[in-house]
Amino acid sequence: MNIESIFLLNFRNYGEQYIELHPGLNIFYGDNAQGKTNIIEAVYLLTMGKSHRTNRYNELVKFDENTARVSIKFTKNNYKYDIDYVLKRNKSKQIKINGTRLNKLSDIIGNLNSVIFSPDHIKIIKDGPSERRKFIDSLLSQAKPKYYYCLNQYLKVLSQRNFLLSSDKNNKSIEKVLDVWDNQLVEYGSRLIKERQLFTKIIDKKAREINKELSGGKENLKIKYLSFISDDKDIKDIKEEFYKKLLESRSLDMRRSFTNYGPHRDELIIYINDKEVRNYGSQGQQRSVLLSLKLSEVEYIKDEKGSWPILLLDDVFSELDKTRQSFLISFIKNVQVILTCTDFESLHLVNDVNYSVYNVRNGKVYRK
Ligand SMILES: Nc1ncnc2c1ncn2[C@@H]1O[C@H](COP(=O)(O)OP(=O)(O)OP(=O)(O)O)[C@@H](O)[C@H]1O
Ligand SMILES: [Mg+2]
Repeated sequence: MNIESIFLLNFRNYGEQYIELHPGLNIFYGDNAQGKTNIIEAVYLLTMGKSHRTNRYNELVKFDENTARVSIKFTKNNYKYDIDYVLKRNKSKQIKINGTRLNKLSDIIGNLNSVIFSPDHIKIIKDGPSERRKFIDSLLSQAKPKYYYCLNQYLKVLSQRNFLLSSDKNNKSIEKVLDVWDNQLVEYGSRLIKERQLFTKIIDKKAREINKELSGGKENLKIKYLSFISDDKDIKDIKEEFYKKLLESRSLDMRRSFTNYGPHRDELIIYINDKEVRNYGSQGQQRSVLLSLKLSEVEYIKDEKGSWPILLLDDVFSELDKTRQSFLISFIKNVQVILTCTDFESLHLVNDVNYSVYNVRNGKVYRK
């Protein structure tokens, strides 16, 4: 996959900006608060339909303006694409792919594929289980539209079920409605569990290999999906077991006004040499694991979609030591990269890498 050009209009601090990209590495450097991350955000917006840093679309529209636009032209598997995203303050979004208007915002997902990596992502390694569930969910949503659909249906049913559990508990009719919700929860939830289990096996293998190389063979990374349902079951058995579990825990659920079992409670656990990296990993180990995870994400999308995603490296390159920087550069030779940094001079680029450099100043991009 290759982005040829990005056009921004009244997006964040940009007025009118056209950027042609290099097919390899693109380095955007500049002082703080000039608009580097805004470019990454624009690419992510056209990947997932929303920003990676806010849920409020109005924030994306330039102050004192009413309409923002992001248009990206790219090629994928020899086909040309043109995604045009128009955002009007307090109004619905309008998206066109190759001139055809999308009916649903979520139909944008899966067209322009990208993997974003910013310093903030260390949360995936360090924080609680919900960050790792978010990691799986957004990756699987990008790779498989069906997953995204099931996830949204599941979350809707779950919140309705929880709402019911917290309402009038003495009401007998509640049980009948619960039967209906439980059936739907099982239908969607079981598919989520199955997909996540399969995904974890793939990413576990990929990340282990990458991490082994990064650590000179010293570290053994393992990733496991921890669920109330073991991972050797087919979808039919998962459904049966999930349904049974919901019935068993119904009185507990009613007491706690909460659904205690389901993929929303499952865990992704990451180990280095059999110890949980979240609790026992050093700073450096945690960073290596995150890098391994992100590079596995790139490979996973390539396998699923048949072409390499764009890699968005926001301010992370300079945080890596020389060994990890050159590892990253050699790993991504097939991938188009958008990289941001404040200090261009401190990048340790390998000689045989082709790249373009852009300076970002006050919402304007100057090609060097
Ligand atoms: N809706 C908006 N309209 C105008 N300007 C905005 C809007 N939203 C954000 N900005 C401005 O964009 C700038 C931040 O851009 P961005 O996050 O891309 O900076 P950056 O170059 O990545 O900086 P850093 O190196 O600190 O990460 C800030 O100056 C902010 O005030
Ligand atoms: Mg930034």
